Amino acid sequence: MDKLLIRGPVKLKGRVRISGAKNAALPCMAASILTDESVRLTNVPDVADVISTIELMRYMGSDCSFDKEKNILKIEGGKLTKCEAPYDIVRKMRASSLVLGPLVAKYKKARVSLPGGCAIGVRPIDLHIKALAQMGADIRNEHGYIVVEARQLKGIKFFFDIVTVTGTENIMMAAVLANGVTVLENCAKEPEVVCLAKMLKKMGARIEGEGTDRIVIEGVRYLKGCSYKLISDRIEAGTYAVAAAITRGDVIIDNCEPEYFDNVLLKLEEAGSDIRRMKNAVKVSMKRRPKPFEIVTMPYPGFPTDMQAQFVALATLAEGSSVVKETIFENRFMHIPELMRMGADIEIKGNTAHIRGVKKLSGANLMATDLRASAALVLAALAAEGESVINRIYHIDRGYAHLDSKMKKIGARIERLK
Ligand code: UD1
Repeated sequence: MDKLLIRGPVKLKGRVRISGAKNAALPCMAASILTDESVRLTNVPDVADVISTIELMRYMGSDCSFDKEKNILKIEGGKLTKCEAPYDIVRKMRASSLVLGPLVAKYKKARVSLPGGCAIGVRPIDLHIKALAQMGADIRNEHGYIVVEARQLKGIKFFFDIVTVTGTENIMMAAVLANGVTVLENCAKEPEVVCLAKMLKKMGARIEGEGTDRIVIEGVRYLKGCSYKLISDRIEAGTYAVAAAITRGDVIIDNCEPEYFDNVLLKLEEAGSDIRRMKNAVKVSMKRRPKPFEIVTMPYPGFPTDMQAQFVALATLAEGSSVVKETIFENRFMHIPELMRMGADIEIKGNTAHIRGVKKLSGANLMATDLRASAALVLAALAAEGESVINRIYHIDRGYAHLDSKMKKIGARIERLK
């Protein structure tokens, strides 16, 4: 298993190029199931979750080719021979359940392993299932798999009791080929949901209201192929922005859409960073110790849960006490015990972390536990004094394209140990 060796402290300086959004790539790849024609996606990030989704598409019989240098993924439509997401793939990547909606819509059946618990909480998909059942699908649970069959899905009115990103995406993909009109209320408004809706529209789907609480979809009979560019990864961009701040560096973050992570940039400004927003780039510099801040994670446009761990890392070095409340996932503080081993002063009360800033962190042997927790450890290690070794970095590789080489280019002393 690969490890990362990081020597701190460093001041990051230079320019880093952001990859395409992992969380846009996964639903857009699933959307290719809806057409018999070919789909060409550009700005696709070379991350392990994309590779796992390619593995899943190939398992089902699809023909995929991924040019990792050019970040272009081609998927030939209409080739599926199996409508199944097996346990071994779903276990690695819970977002595999995104194939459920498109499989049932196009092939009238799906067999998808139920995602179990995962490091950051239970994460059920009950709302995806409830909506599909209402659309007329017959659903049963067999040997740990959810088996869905439907003659023809029908349009429905549905209210999501909880705002769910992949739930909104799954049901939107089911509805595009359903009979009649579907009205979804309390939808997720994340830029990745909008990115998927725009792709579906390019394929001929009739969708209105993406990016708002209420999405209306009029089913069509047929969707065509398309060539489509994914948005950039706002979480990767936000992570490099915090990296610049925590190391009191000066970094230009390129190939990103600053308006999609303004929630993060505003919080960095509150913490004392200088931010210059440009058209497709943002410059982040920090000259002093961070000022303390308060964060409550919320669905978009609120502060993203996927940036919570990185900001906890930043708060450990602040001049004063910060408060970070996690409202989306119940077990998303696993970076905290590791940060405390580096000298951070943090107390967890329920879903809230109280962080008293310290003057310095010291390098340590660390364990990555999930994708964003691992990113927080990298950030802390860059700012800490001495050497840190981060174990189990496959978590980082799931969502950060070439993190070690990108970090090295902006001055990090970082090595991947095989
Ligand atoms: C997506 C993102 C993930 C991000 C999360 C929240 C992808 C591939 N992943 O995950 O990076 O951290 O949004 O922004 O886009 N819930 C239910 N029942 C359901 C569905 C969800 O109770 O049927 C709950 C979840 O347990 C969680 C909350 O709703 O507490 C939000 O989860 P959701 O938005 O569905 O997360 P994902 O779509 O899995």
